[in-house]
Amino acid sequence: MRYLITGGAGFIGSHLADRLLEQGNDVIALDNLSTGRLDNIRQLEANKRFDLAYGDVTNRQLVDECAKCVDRVFHLASPVGVRLIVEDPIRAIETNIYGTAEVFSACERYRLPVLLTSTSEVYGKSDRIPYSEDEDCVIGSPVHSRWAYACVKALDEFLAVGYWRQTGLAAITVRLFNTAGPRQTGHYGMVIPSLIDQALAGEALDVYGDGRQTRCFCHVQDAVSALIALMDRHEETAGEIFNVGTAEQITINDLAKKILEMTGSPAPVNHVPYEEAYGEGFEDMRHRVPRLDKIRERIGYEPQYDLTAILRDMIAEAKGHSRGSKPGAADQGSSGE
Ligand SMILES: NC(=O)c1ccc[n+]([C@@H]2O[C@H](COP(=O)([O-])OP(=O)(O)OC[C@H]3O[C@@H](n4cnc5c(N)ncnc54)[C@H](O)[C@@H]3O)[C@@H](O)[C@H]2O)c1
Repeated sequence: MRYLITGGAGFIGSHLADRLLEQGNDVIALDNLSTGRLDNIRQLEANKRFDLAYGDVTNRQLVDECAKCVDRVFHLASPVGVRLIVEDPIRAIETNIYGTAEVFSACERYRLPVLLTSTSEVYGKSDRIPYSEDEDCVIGSPVHSRWAYACVKALDEFLAVGYWRQTGLAAITVRLFNTAGPRQTGHYGMVIPSLIDQALAGEALDVYGDGRQTRCFCHVQDAVSALIALMDRHEETAGEIFNVGTAEQITINDLAKKILEMTGSPAPVNHVPYEEAYGEGFEDMRHRVPRLDKIRERIGYEPQYDLTAILRDMIAEAKGHSRGSKPGAADQGSSGE
């Protein structure tokens, strides 16, 4: 099979590319390298079955040229993480609206199964955890830019379902919960790489709020397995929405403690008020847990890695080369994406 991965030089996209190539497929990664990195795909440079199409997912001609050459599409390209969205809502909104429209329209033109990576952010402020896929989305006011991410991803989901209903396009939606693993950087506010970098540098670990908020972390390898299995069964999964993650919760305080233990770092923990990190009026959810019954029933999904394995892999990578995280950037209170 020939695959197009938009956002293929990013954290998740590059692992997906690795796996698809290992399975004997061809891969084109379309990426504008805004948050993605050439380092993520360096190992694929010499692989004749891999191509990087450098450019923007809103570029109609480029998307069309790529789509024309493949059998299936994974659509991941998007600004990610609440911090990036708060800082540059226009880009987040435009990429997700125009970029996704281009991708779906090309997939419809060439009748290509497509999988969209949405986010657990779309559940918004709902406190009905664990979240089921048909749960109401409780999204906050546009006064707070952070909700732009949830809104545009929800709109992308509507588009996927709309294409399926109106044109029969095999469009699958995945709501990724916090995904972590090697190649994730702390630059855009992801909690685990930020805390690991601080621990290894002997700097205080910045934990937002009281640190009693919980998150569930899924190893990128488990997420990749789920994406491929859902795509492989697109005839049964098209038009539907699936949570992908783990249901094992940990408070950010305990996460920081575990990272200190596993790195052997003597660094202290520093509690930072949300307002200091994100500005006045920042809204957050205390817990975010996926219900995984649907994906379990449909593809037999069972995560293979626990948090210890995630941290072990990420600490090993960070010790090999520093990712140079900006201190105080951890997006732990929000999605942690
Ligand atoms: N990491 C998480 O915890 C998480 C959680 C929920 C959802 N997601 C979703 O998974 C997908 C991948 O996220 P990731 O964590 O790998 O982040 P990432 O930032 O590493 O990957 C996104 C990739 O998209 C590229 N990109 C962004 N805008 C683009 C544009 N206009 N044109 C072309 N390429 C563009 C970036 O350069 C990057 O390589 C995203 O759709 C994100 O919303 C991730």
